Amino acid sequence: MAEATVDTVTSVPVAVVGAGPAGLMLAHLLGRAGVDTVVVDTRTRQEIATTHRAGILEADVARDLVETGVSDRVVREGREHEGIELRFGGRPHRIDFKELVGASTWLYPQTDVFTDLADARERDGGTVLFGIEDTEVLDITTDAPRVRCTLSDGSRREIRARYVVGADGSRSTCRDLVPEDRRVRYGKEYPFAWFGIMAEAPASAPELVYAHSEHGFALISQRTDTVQRMYFQCAADELVDAWSDDRIWETLQARVAGQDGFRLTEGPVLEKTVLRFRSFVQEPMRWGSLTLAGDAAHTVPPTGARGLNLALHDVKVLADVLLRALGGEGDTALDDYQPRALQRIWRAQNFSSWMTRLLHTAPGDTSFDLRRRLGELDNVAGTRAGRRYLAEQYTGWPTGTRA
Ligand code: PHB
Repeated sequence: MAEATVDTVTSVPVAVVGAGPAGLMLAHLLGRAGVDTVVVDTRTRQEIATTHRAGILEADVARDLVETGVSDRVVREGREHEGIELRFGGRPHRIDFKELVGASTWLYPQTDVFTDLADARERDGGTVLFGIEDTEVLDITTDAPRVRCTLSDGSRREIRARYVVGADGSRSTCRDLVPEDRRVRYGKEYPFAWFGIMAEAPASAPELVYAHSEHGFALISQRTDTVQRMYFQCAADELVDAWSDDRIWETLQARVAGQDGFRLTEGPVLEKTVLRFRSFVQEPMRWGSLTLAGDAAHTVPPTGARGLNLALHDVKVLADVLLRALGGEGDTALDDYQPRALQRIWRAQNFSSWMTRLLHTAPGDTSFDLRRRLGELDNVAGTRAGRRYLAEQYTGWPTGTRA
């Protein structure tokens, strides 16, 4: 078949599909080691920068952003949180990360992580092509894979590379390039979703509040002194427009209500979205010259705040093996990627689905299920071993030591 012509051909060692945090962090880490990349994304920079996602970074991830020279904004503008509050049975139960496992987390939105990474790429002269169309990833079973796309000015570009990385998020098309009879997709759907809001109000609590009630789950998170992020469990097919501000606040207040009289500080709702989620892993994470990283290879429900952290861990490992591969070791170096990434991925899959089941009610739950769940919550919050388990999982697993 004759190939369509291209206007420009660029050659780089690594082409990256997806300019979210995983793709940009990978490009940053490779760039620091002198390896050029071209990163492409169908979304515009503005679209990515304004799509609200997660808000919690592991301390190790925050430290990596600073120490690898992305930016120190996370420690200047982010907030260190030394614990979370679990609320159930109408009472608060603090999980003190610092005291239990000597770790903390940073409240720093994914949109800010993206902005820091995109700015760092620009500062360091890296190429990131936003708003592209018609992406084709070709020849991944050879040692000369290519990415072809149409740029926002209408010109056709071909990027020739030695390796291609698919970091194109939870709706990845790169992962479909692993042949159907050679891939396995593990997954689980949940019979509920999250209704997420941004509200203009001061914080209602010093730390994040994960609340379970017989009416379902709610999460009280934060963004700034004047803007707060909150979520409540809703039906999987919930419609945003069916929710007035009054109805939203009434629902949230009922989910956090308790004997201590705790109430959320209300304010105008600035944004509303329904977030559907699932647990998902595709194996293998490598096919020929293609590797998958972040949400393209795995997604987790947001309950355990693992998704972004996991994606950034993937690319840390991937940068290491790609540098070894390009440094003379060749493809065998890539064999290390999946086993090293996958251990953390399955731990995070387990934790995220465990924490989701622990805190949500499911349609059809019986009174036994509700009572049993309170027993489990009591085991978690009421024993040191339980609190420690949660703290260790939530704050992440230090790279290179325990995993
Ligand atoms: C958020 O702030 O958006 C956030 C925080 C913790 C989670 C999920 C989302 O577990």
